[in-house]
Amino acid sequence: MCKERSDFGDDFPEHIAIIMDGNGRWAKSQGWKRVRGHQEGVNSVRAITTECARLGVKSLTLYAFSVENWKRPKAEVSFLMKLLRSFLVDERPTLMENNIRLIGIGRLEDLPDESLAELRETELMTAGHDGMKLRLALSYGSRSELADAARALAEDVVAGKLAPKDIHDETLRDYLYDPTTADPDLVIRTAGEMRLSNFLLWQASYSELYVAPMGWPEFREPELHAALESYGGRTRKYGGLVSDLPPEQPSPSQGR
Ligand code: FPP
Repeated sequence: MCKERSDFGDDFPEHIAIIMDGNGRWAKSQGWKRVRGHQEGVNSVRAITTECARLGVKSLTLYAFSVENWKRPKAEVSFLMKLLRSFLVDERPTLMENNIRLIGIGRLEDLPDESLAELRETELMTAGHDGMKLRLALSYGSRSELADAARALAEDVVAGKLAPKDIHDETLRDYLYDPTTADPDLVIRTAGEMRLSNFLLWQASYSELYVAPMGWPEFREPELHAALESYGGRTRKYGGLVSDLPPEQPSPSQGR
């Protein structure tokens, strides 16, 4: 059934981040090779991206390749890099039609030249779009991001651009890969695993977590809707008490 944003109530996540897990297990369960799971995973990426854009999600971050994934067998890494390249080319019409801006975050310089070139081209083609921002985390790891941020911050201190006394909780944000995107409200992980696996550790400090049991190739619109329904029923306290939260504004139907 087609759902609208209003079906999920007032609490709707502006930024959703997803750990797309279980491609290999899903393929094996069908009697196929692991890489077939990655191939099918692309169909979930397309379905979830277009549904998030349609519902008015502002940012969607997908964990597509971690810094640790380079340790996988060479054939699988090479398959994933080719898949990334074809995804970046094939999905351009979808990104254009849906006003989606795509960017990469991570140690992008580690990507093979051809994949990086297609990423840069897609970023350029979609740079003017003001709809949803789709962030692909590629060669991404939170510890690497924080190390890269700490190095850049230290360089600014050495250059006299920043005084140590001016470093506060929020200062580090300016040195992250994409400081202008708000923190994720909701982090979804598929395949039933209950961990963050080095994903957005700084940004997800107050994110709501949702774990879906199925592998990523089976995570489609109805499964996304279930996650949004779960999010709608949460109370976010940011470490305070429920009584500290601002009172609810009366809805128009409640009168003045
Ligand atoms: C985890 O499944 C998934 C990955 C390491 C890669 C994610 C890639 C895709 C969803 C497809 C390609 C996406 C783009 C954007 C081109 P796993 O292999 O760890 O599964 P397992 O835990 O069952 O082994």
